[in-house]
Amino acid sequence: MVGIDQVLEKLSTVIDPDLKKDIVSMGMIKDLELNDGALKFTLELTTPACPFNVEIEDDVRKVISEITEVKNFDLKVTAKVMEGRSLDEDTAMSTVKNIIGVASGKGGVGKSTVSLNLALALSQTGAKVGLLDADIYGPSIPLMLGMKKAFMEVEENKLQPVVSNGIQVVSFGFFAEQSHQAAIYRGPIISGILKQFLVDTDWSNLDYLIVDLPPGTGDIPLTLAQTIPITGILVVTTPQEVASNVAVKAVSMFEKLNVPLIGVVENMSYFICPNCNEKHYIFGSGGAKRISEQFNMPFLGEIPLHSEIMSGSDSGKPIMITSPDSPSAVAFRTAAKNIAAQCSMIALRMQEEMASESKNEETAPEVSTSN
Ligand SMILES: Nc1ncnc2c1ncn2[C@@H]1O[C@H](COP(=O)(O)OP(=O)(O)OP(=O)(O)O)[C@@H](O)[C@H]1O
Ligand SMILES: [Mg+2]
Repeated sequence: MVGIDQVLEKLSTVIDPDLKKDIVSMGMIKDLELNDGALKFTLELTTPACPFNVEIEDDVRKVISEITEVKNFDLKVTAKVMEGRSLDEDTAMSTVKNIIGVASGKGGVGKSTVSLNLALALSQTGAKVGLLDADIYGPSIPLMLGMKKAFMEVEENKLQPVVSNGIQVVSFGFFAEQSHQAAIYRGPIISGILKQFLVDTDWSNLDYLIVDLPPGTGDIPLTLAQTIPITGILVVTTPQEVASNVAVKAVSMFEKLNVPLIGVVENMSYFICPNCNEKHYIFGSGGAKRISEQFNMPFLGEIPLHSEIMSGSDSGKPIMITSPDSPSAVAFRTAAKNIAAQCSMIALRMQEEMASESKNEETAPEVSTSN
């Protein structure tokens, strides 16, 4: 008769292609029950945006089908996002599992557009997502969401994010009197505002917080990197920006600050010809890949140059909402999944480092109780 050990042995041959670990040692198998050839368990992925969710589920079904004694198989697939930043009770923003800063060297490369559509793409997979518009001088997210008139309430000394399309959004643009005053604020004040947005906001249990940064290496990107532990920085480039070498400076700054680099997304990469549907790399290709190799960080996706992306931003109707099946939305979704996978990998590395640090300490075996 087949036993639980045999089932687990079979399941341990299924490897998560991103994490390069087997699903049993990763703790992805939960609530396993085996009675008279009837097998039941939950497969808990490390993110609902896992790029290999279908492959992993298929592999699981395949290895279980090879155990002839299993006559009945009931599989439930869920996801629990891993913590990509060290969290304990004393950590600021302990309700936020991953913080992803979106940076670039030059302005206007599409950071805000990419941040918003990635936030929506992650949210559409079922993840809990927040978006912090850290561009205090020129907040653009409210306009891109068609929410210029919304404003943030304060309750019990905590800022209440504005909820739009299921994501929690904070922006200086949600202050009634923001208008032109922001432009005269000096560095320390701007840093203070960002710190408040980060730690004094009532973020409710977020899997991912996307922080849309202003371009370059100024006070705001520095404040983000130095105020709280973050999962890492996502670099947005365009083929033109790479050519101008400005992106390299920004990436170098984060590297010097020891902030993990999640990877690069190239925006306005190519144009899809409406007649022949072919991709045309009108500004040249390979630039973002070169940067990713130079800094040893992954290349996570390319977003087409498309008028619908721009008109969606201008009219407050993001393309992930209005045309979720368009090629542009598919490109955002692919990048979002790759980013989520990178966050899981960073989380795993962190766990392993912590485990190796405490390997000399005595650890009690995990016992589950039902009281
Ligand atoms: N893939 C794209 N296709 C077409 N237009 C785009 C694309 N990405 C961004 N845009 C447009 O380019 C302009 C700049 O984009 P966006 O404001 O997102 O850039 P940014 O990097 O956030 O700028 P800033 O540095 O000023 O914050 C906007 O008009 C936006 O609609
Ligand atoms: Mg912007």
